[in-house]
Amino acid sequence: MTRQVVATSPIEGQKPGTSGLRKKTPVFMQPKYLENFVQAIFNGTGGAAGKTYVLGGDGRYFNDRAAQVILRMAAANGARKVIIGQNALLSTPAASNLIRKRATDGGIIMSASHNPGGPKEDFGVKFNTANGGPAPEGVTEAIFAETKSLSEYAILESADVDLATLGTTMLGEMEIEVVDPVADYAELMESIFDFGAIRALFASGFTLRFDAMHAITGPYAKAILEETLGAAEGSVVNAVPSPDFGGGHPDPNPIWAKELMDLMFSSEAPDFGAASDGDGDRNMIVGRNAYVTPSDSLAVLAANASLVPAYEGGLKGVARSMPTSRALDRVAESLGIACYETPTGWKFFGNLLDAGRATLCGEESAGTGSDHVREKDGLWAVLFWLNVLAVRKQSVEEIMADHWARFGRNYYSRHDYEAVDSEAANGLMNALRTRLPNQPGREVEGMVIEAADEFAYDDPVDGSRSEGQGIRILFAGGGRIVFRLSGTGTEGATLRVYLEKVETEVAALQDNPQNALSGIISAADKLAEIRARTGRNAPDVIT
Ligand code: G6P
Ligand code: ZN
Repeated sequence: MTRQVVATSPIEGQKPGTSGLRKKTPVFMQPKYLENFVQAIFNGTGGAAGKTYVLGGDGRYFNDRAAQVILRMAAANGARKVIIGQNALLSTPAASNLIRKRATDGGIIMSASHNPGGPKEDFGVKFNTANGGPAPEGVTEAIFAETKSLSEYAILESADVDLATLGTTMLGEMEIEVVDPVADYAELMESIFDFGAIRALFASGFTLRFDAMHAITGPYAKAILEETLGAAEGSVVNAVPSPDFGGGHPDPNPIWAKELMDLMFSSEAPDFGAASDGDGDRNMIVGRNAYVTPSDSLAVLAANASLVPAYEGGLKGVARSMPTSRALDRVAESLGIACYETPTGWKFFGNLLDAGRATLCGEESAGTGSDHVREKDGLWAVLFWLNVLAVRKQSVEEIMADHWARFGRNYYSRHDYEAVDSEAANGLMNALRTRLPNQPGREVEGMVIEAADEFAYDDPVDGSRSEGQGIRILFAGGGRIVFRLSGTGTEGATLRVYLEKVETEVAALQDNPQNALSGIISAADKLAEIRARTGRNAPDVIT
């Protein structure tokens, strides 16, 4: 076993995005590509010497090979120990939990989240800090700076480490502990929720379909939902993680989880449907004939938090990303707690959670979580819903109807235009930006613009400022359009258009969102010239 120092030179484009560095797998598999980025992580965070890390991934293609490289590099960089999930698997929330529970110096997660996997699809590497959360911007900037000045990396020359057997081994001077990826996470869930009530719910004949989308939550959901809580065997489907997610797109939304949606709107529908994404941090909730938007789900969980043992003492505050609907704000107001508005990206919640200012947080992009870890958590959201259903003994549809009757309904939808020519997308955003000062007072589609701005966030905990976080058009009466370019795409640009309208008339609470939002949708096209500038007639994805 020899330590090698390999000469290298900077590789362009290794700038971490919303959630780590994501690229096409063949890009990551190029000689020195992964090595450069991993060395930059170590260099950009004060070196690996003496440190302990957690390592795991969502099992996508190249996950196993990348794990061996990262282990050999950690050893060569003097790390003390790496705690790794068996077969290099860990869901993102489980990794976050291990980082916190074992008080490590951070962790490396191999995942491109909900993006497809495979030899021609996506791969990603993300660094999480000691609080268990995604590295904040200051850290990702330091890592990026290292990628631009790197001249060498260190790696051990050794045979592959056996990652299939649980227990501790040595790699050179570094200890490797292979752990069961599910056990600690399952224990954490049991400490939060009323497992007894959920068990009784299933025992009473309540039926569930959980779609793991051939991704990482399969083993977690089987163990927790079926084996521990007593959901019928077979309730968890697509439960075996596969390197290419069964050729699918492991993103839990009505488009990519269509099979589940079809079932939930059929006569065969079970009582409750849910899905999670590639790395297990996103969730989709759907009742019988009732799809729950992520923004609504967050608001419902906040309103019902006192039914869950871990939150029965009350929430310290709540937080949502700016484009997420303001349904949460109404709940926070009624609870008399603060509601923070952050830029898109889970990392912005970290400081609020660490400082004890927020307990629950969530995003329109199917992420919901709490201070139990520092990542969003798909299965946690599902268990939260099950806990609420078990206590309230109502259907999802009834719970939603109640919620809207009490708080009003924030009709909400996101329209995505994917793989748009980058220049066209930037042109559209620039044009909107230039016109911002002239928007207030203008009438579009019979609605008056009250305010228009580009969102910037001043972190109340560390005082840092993040600018350029999306363009907002606010209408009189509570309507809103947000335009943003995605920070997670790997091909061209993705334009996201977030549409929202508030309804409090009891007779108008059960409309189809696309219908209810039709005025807002055409206003969006008029304001941003979407069709003309992107050449697209319709969005690729509607959530
Ligand atoms: C990831 C991040 C989320 C973010 C989402 C969408 O899942 O963890 O925090 O909301 O990507 O980001 P995007 O920049 O593509 O809209
Ligand atoms: Zn994810």
